[in-house]
Formats: sequence, structure tokens, C-alpha cells
Amino acid sequence: MGIVFVDVGVSLDGYMAGPNRGPDNPMGGRAMSIHQWVFECASFREHLGMKGGVSGTLDDDLIKRVFARSGANVMGRRMFDEGEVAWPEEAPFHGPVFVLTHHAREPWVRKGGTTFYFVTDGIESALAQAKIAAKGKDVRISGGAETIREYLDAGQIDEFTLHLAPVVLGDGLRLMDGLSAEKLKFEQTGSSSSALVTHVDYRVLR
Ligand SMILES: NC(=O)c1ccc[n+]([C@@H]2O[C@H](COP(=O)([O-])OP(=O)(O)OC[C@H]3O[C@@H](n4cnc5c(N)ncnc54)[C@H](OP(=O)(O)O)[C@@H]3O)[C@@H](O)[C@H]2O)c1
Repeated sequence: MGIVFVDVGVSLDGYMAGPNRGPDNPMGGRAMSIHQWVFECASFREHLGMKGGVSGTLDDDLIKRVFARSGANVMGRRMFDEGEVAWPEEAPFHGPVFVLTHHAREPWVRKGGTTFYFVTDGIESALAQAKIAAKGKDVRISGGAETIREYLDAGQIDEFTLHLAPVVLGDGLRLMDGLSAEKLKFEQTGSSSSALVTHVDYRVLR
């Protein structure tokens, strides 16, 4: 049985997206620079159908491992709304994606194996469906902040990786705001870094 994990990028001041974000402004302007290290990696570019990038580096191997372990993804509708416009026709998931929303919609099938399923009956249902679809691999709670916080608060996340980028945003969407501090405990299990980013791994204790 796979586990449930989060793997997201944050700025030095704790934002995972900038202000005025939306489908016309994915991630919110300068906040896309949080992912600079990702765009430089060949394995990520490959998933987007783009050429180039560096391979065989610590960052590139890490991205490869994340894609390899993810049997299914769960995301919130606001993250999906941005991606619906920004992702190429061959969306970068290559597997089932469960989108939390209050607005029912038929599944959206993309080239290359990605299908988006719209789940209107809550986080437990989305995760249960994702676990079945993942066929023993891990389930990634992809984002955004509201969705990750709901799963953290519900005690459903096993592992959590932050990619800390040397970028200050000053405003935007904070990842950890409003969590139940007494309930949540993290154990740091590893860290590594390159010139562009520091990766920190945690186990979420129950
Ligand atoms: N830095 C990173 O690595 C990273 C990663 C992922 C995303 N992001 C960014 O994060 C931002 C989006 O995050 P966000 O916190 O604003 O929103 P979000 O978590 O992506 O989506 C929130 C929406 O999901 C739906 N939803 C959430 N919980 C639900 C539930 N229990 N039942 C039914 N529907 C539910 C609701 O949609 P409805 O209104 O349709 O009901 C809600 O408005 C984007 O800017 C994205 O680019 C950053």
C-alpha cells in the first residue's frame, strides 16, 4: 500500500503562490520563480513535452523520483483552474488526477494518460478514489494551500517535502496559515540542496 505525500515549493517568507494569482496569472506573477530549479531539470521538461534541461543532478533525480512514486494526484479546483489554461495538451501528470470542487463536471481526458476527475463529495472521498487508482503506488496531494491544509488537519498526510527557494515574495498565499498547531507534529527526516533550492523532508507524526 502506498503512502500519502506532499511535495511543494515555498518562498523564504513561506508563500507557495503570489498575490493576484489565477488562470490569467498562474502562481501570481513573480511567485513562478519559486519553481526556477524545477524548470531547469530535464525530467520536468520531459513531462511537459519540452526539450533541454540538465539531467543527472540532485534536483533532477529528485523530480524523477517524485513522478515515479506518484500513482495518483489530488488537487484543489483553484490549482486546477490555473493548470487548465497553462498545462500543455499532454498534461504533466500521466495518470489519474482527482480535483476537489463543489461544481460537478464530467472527467476531462488529456493526451498522455492524464484524466482529471472532479470530486464533489469531500476530501475523504477524493483520497479513497486516488488510493484505488494509484494501484499500490503513492498518492500526491499536489496543492494548493487550502487543499494541503485540509488533508494535514485531517491527519491524512504521511510525508511532506518543502523545496525552499531563495526568493522573497512579500505577499501571497501562505502554506501553513491557520493550521491546528497543537495537533500537528513534524519530524525532519532529511535535507539536501543545490545552488537554486533547499529540499527538506518531514514525516508527519500522528
Ligand atoms: N508552490 C507550489 O508548489 C504550488 C503547488 C500547487 C499549487 N500552487 C498554487 O496554489 C494556488 C491554489 O491554492 P489555493 O489554496 O488557493 O486553492 P486550492 O487548494 O488549489 O483549491 C481550493 C478549491 O478547491 C475546492 N475544494 C477544496 N476543498 C474542498 C472540499 N473539501 N470539498 C469540495 N471542494 C473543495 C474548492 O473549489 P470550488 O470553489 O470549486 O468548490 C476550493 O475553492 C495556485 O496559485 C497554485 O499555483 C503552488
